[in-house]
Amino acid sequence: DKGDFEHFMIKEIFAGPKALRQTLNGRIKDNKIIFSGLNFEIKNINKIFIAGCGTAYHAGLVGRKAIEELTGLQVEIDLASEFAYRRVLWQAGDLLIVISQSGETADTLAALYKAKQAGIPVLAILNVPGSTMARWADAVIYTQAGPEISIASTKVYLTQLMALYLLALYLAQERGTLSEAELNTYIKSITTIDQKVEKALALQPTVKEIAGYYRDTDNAFFLGRGYDYPVAMEGALKLKETSYVHAEAYAAGELKHGSIALLNGDVLVIGLVSQDALAEKTMSNIDEIKSRGAQTIVICKESLQKYCQEYEKVIIIPDTEPWLAPLVTVVPLQLFAYYMAVFRGTEVDNPRHLTKAVTVE
Ligand code: M6R
Repeated sequence: DKGDFEHFMIKEIFAGPKALRQTLNGRIKDNKIIFSGLNFEIKNINKIFIAGCGTAYHAGLVGRKAIEELTGLQVEIDLASEFAYRRVLWQAGDLLIVISQSGETADTLAALYKAKQAGIPVLAILNVPGSTMARWADAVIYTQAGPEISIASTKVYLTQLMALYLLALYLAQERGTLSEAELNTYIKSITTIDQKVEKALALQPTVKEIAGYYRDTDNAFFLGRGYDYPVAMEGALKLKETSYVHAEAYAAGELKHGSIALLNGDVLVIGLVSQDALAEKTMSNIDEIKSRGAQTIVICKESLQKYCQEYEKVIIIPDTEPWLAPLVTVVPLQLFAYYMAVFRGTEVDNPRHLTKAVTVE
């Protein structure tokens, strides 16, 4: 049931904050993260591998950064379809995390089986209970987003990030890599992040207007550094699959190493600026792009506004700690993809050639 919404996609984008609260529910008590059912020795883990496809992979990229920063554990991440067929140098103490909304994706299952065959424990971050991955994994963290109908994943992406952030904090707590005070600060920001997501959703009219303005664009580049880069990847994927606009994501610093040659007045560049320590560098990359005549939209954190004053199309998002910014920056990108699709008249909830769970390798 779509309720008052025209499509499931927009309904699910707006369900993001509630979904986040459901993922958090029961997992924090007295300033401690609780994960019942993680039945392998977290303290003995030496290294983590992550595998997933599409949006789940993009969530994993953010998760890797958070786990590395908060715990000092080494994390490798692969597209599941690549991981399954490469030589992995397993060692005692390895853990594989698979991320999947459906729990049925063939490529991700192949990655899971590969670890199982090597005797490596698998933790699955899943949304659908009772799925094939749920049966094979040693432990499951459910994202608790509720059913996601639209083929383009939106609310589940938010909850995959939340599950990974919680896991990072849990690992830090159990392994003692953060002080109690640090842990409390992190926990506080994670339990109030849904309010920032709500605020970002209030940008809907602004984003709709901007999408209307750029509806005929055929090429879009999404740029970001640090935590903004995987979000740029997610923004590009969302735009491609819902509106069929050709879109690519680049690490902001990489464009000048070749792809900048593609820029002209017909290209739309969407820059993400949410990382305090990287904002200046990203903006200098975006300035360079603007001077090549490309059209630009800057998605900028409130406290970093001074860097994008000269830009006409700026979407200001609420302030967040850099590590949590992906939960907020992705919201205008989801809305942008949605409205581009609506304006271009595509089948928003059921884009051509796609299925909700891809069960072939
Ligand atoms: O069910 P899964 O999370 O394993 O699916 C993985 C991808 O197929 C999926 O995220 C796909 O990229 C979405 N359509 C993206 O919106």
